[in-house]
Amino acid sequence: MREDSQIAILFLCLGNICRSPLAEGAARAAFAEAGIDARLDSAGTGDWHVGHAPDPRAQAEARRRGADISDLRARQLRRSDFTDFDLILAADETNLRDALAIRPPDATADLKLMLDLVPGREGESVTDPYYGADEGFGATWDDVGAVAAALVASARG
Ligand code: 4NP
Repeated sequence: MREDSQIAILFLCLGNICRSPLAEGAARAAFAEAGIDARLDSAGTGDWHVGHAPDPRAQAEARRRGADISDLRARQLRRSDFTDFDLILAADETNLRDALAIRPPDATADLKLMLDLVPGREGESVTDPYYGADEGFGATWDDVGAVAAALVASARG
């Protein structure tokens, strides 16, 4: 049962150390700048990195863009997230499918891809930088920055 009235959004990826913490960081910055109260969190479908800080390359990219994500710690998606949040935004189709597999019958959260919110990019995946070069993190920030801007625009109504 939700106790709060502000919008609550959960960003989801696989490990919760690259894409979703960057999305959380971008959204935190965008909502703060807009002066809109929101409850923001991120999680991974996998449990390999539970308790870990974001990948150092993700932290560095966030810092370059003016956001500090160093205090975030990875956690795994849980069934209660489907009633604790209004919206769960997955980085890619695999994350979406894995989330659907544990979605409880009483789920109230909307579940979609992050880039479904960005006009012209519906159905696309957020750039996955984990196995690539450092430049990939810049592309990831660009993607999640667009998602954050779309969220703020829709929260403004
Ligand atoms: P993320 O990236 O899902 O964006 O946090 C990954 C992090 C870790 C792994 C894969 C992707 N991994 O296989 O450990």
